[in-house]
Amino acid sequence: MAVRNIVKIGSETLRKKSKPVVSFDESLHALLDDMKQTMIEKGGVGIAGVQVGVLRRVIVIEIEEGNYLEIVNPEIIKTRGAVIDSEGCLSIPNFYCDVKRPKYVKVKAQDRNGDEFFFEAKDYIARCVCHEIDHLNGVLFVDYTDEGKMYRSKFEHMED
Ligand code: CO
Repeated sequence: MAVRNIVKIGSETLRKKSKPVVSFDESLHALLDDMKQTMIEKGGVGIAGVQVGVLRRVIVIEIEEGNYLEIVNPEIIKTRGAVIDSEGCLSIPNFYCDVKRPKYVKVKAQDRNGDEFFFEAKDYIARCVCHEIDHLNGVLFVDYTDEGKMYRSKFEHMED
């Protein structure tokens, strides 16, 4: 396992849409292992492939202390409710702002071997899952609020 560099805001890579994983092979497993290691090392609770520069639809999140969930090709199939809470991101150091997210999500995904599974999450974990799935679509949490957009404008010149 290795710690990889985190892609930071300002890089166009973060704005690209990640592609589905089609090969559940050793290189995928190495990527997931490295993502987990990188997230732990950098003190995050979730990480997406694009954040280590790999444009594949893969996520690792810490669902409880020391317990990590690998999520490949996720698809949100149900959401309920809404909660506003503070959010941050490894790719956007030292900035936090409130973002509205679903209180509950149900997700269909695959594991590292390609086997399909479903999971449900609420509150903080639901927030984390939505934030990471946004990364797979080139979306950052600073896109959602005026405060975030102001911060973002220091790094990016984007058309809204
Ligand atoms: Co993030």
